[in-house]
Amino acid sequence: MATKFPRSSAWALYFVSMVVLTPPRYCSSVRIVPPAVFVFGGTLVDAGTNAFLPYSTAIAANFPFYGIDFFDSVPHGRFSNGRVVADEVARRIGFEMSPPSFLSLVAGGYPSYKFNRTITSRGVNFASAFSGILSSTGRAYGQVVPYPEQVRQFSTSVAGNLTAVLGQPGSANFIRQSFFLFSVGVGDTVEYIQNLTAGRPYYRSDDLFLDALISQFVGGLLVT
Ligand SMILES: *[C@@H]1O[C@H](CO)[C@@H](O)[C@H](O)[C@H]1NC(C)=O
Ligand SMILES: *[C@@H]1O[C@H](CO)[C@@H](O)[C@H](O)[C@H]1NC(C)=O
Ligand SMILES: *[C@@H]1O[C@H](CO)[C@@H](O)[C@H](O)[C@H]1NC(C)=O
Repeated sequence: MATKFPRSSAWALYFVSMVVLTPPRYCSSVRIVPPAVFVFGGTLVDAGTNAFLPYSTAIAANFPFYGIDFFDSVPHGRFSNGRVVADEVARRIGFEMSPPSFLSLVAGGYPSYKFNRTITSRGVNFASAFSGILSSTGRAYGQVVPYPEQVRQFSTSVAGNLTAVLGQPGSANFIRQSFFLFSVGVGDTVEYIQNLTAGRPYYRSDDLFLDALISQFVGGLLVT
């Protein structure tokens, strides 16, 4: 299927960078707030994931002056002086801000009732700055949570608990009505171009790179 895409990697960026999967009714003038928001992707939508990776190896943003224009002027791990794209998207569909990062929910023995309440009332943000669709993306800079791992966190932890709390049909219905935001492919494309520019391309052609991106991305969609 990837061969139908234009060859230029700039187009990969265009197609893959911001995919929003949502039923069309949320776009109509009648405002229906989805039950939860699930966010996957990289820097533009990371709401604090990397701040929970081991300090010595992570690329994090939980120190001043990140967050200086956020509600409480406290750095929450967002790569921004204030809100990130995930906060703005969540706000526009009826939430105060992005749901919390998955790692913040499981760090330090977060009690299961709180975990359950958060995933059923707000959703979860899995995004990790500098990560990519490809597991190798961002590695050169430090530890990140790549998209395949984000998808695994959703399917093995969040989806399982949703089913435990809401039952099988209830959970399927909940996921169907939820809002899924994907902001992926930017880091991969930047690294692809960096590799090309440095004279050590890893993929033999744009098409092969796009094939790898798209199959990994679609594979993830099928899991979520
Ligand atoms: C949260 O969900 C898990 C199932 O994943 C369940 O074992 C646990 O009892 C729930 N906690 C509460 C307080 O409902
Ligand atoms: C619920 O989430 C916790 C924390 O991630 C996880 O350890 C547990 O396996 C999950 N339970 C189910 C039933 O998926
Ligand atoms: C860039 O090069 C590194 C090192 O060879 C490789 O691991 C990585 O997969 C490459 N990334 C892309 C997107 O070409």
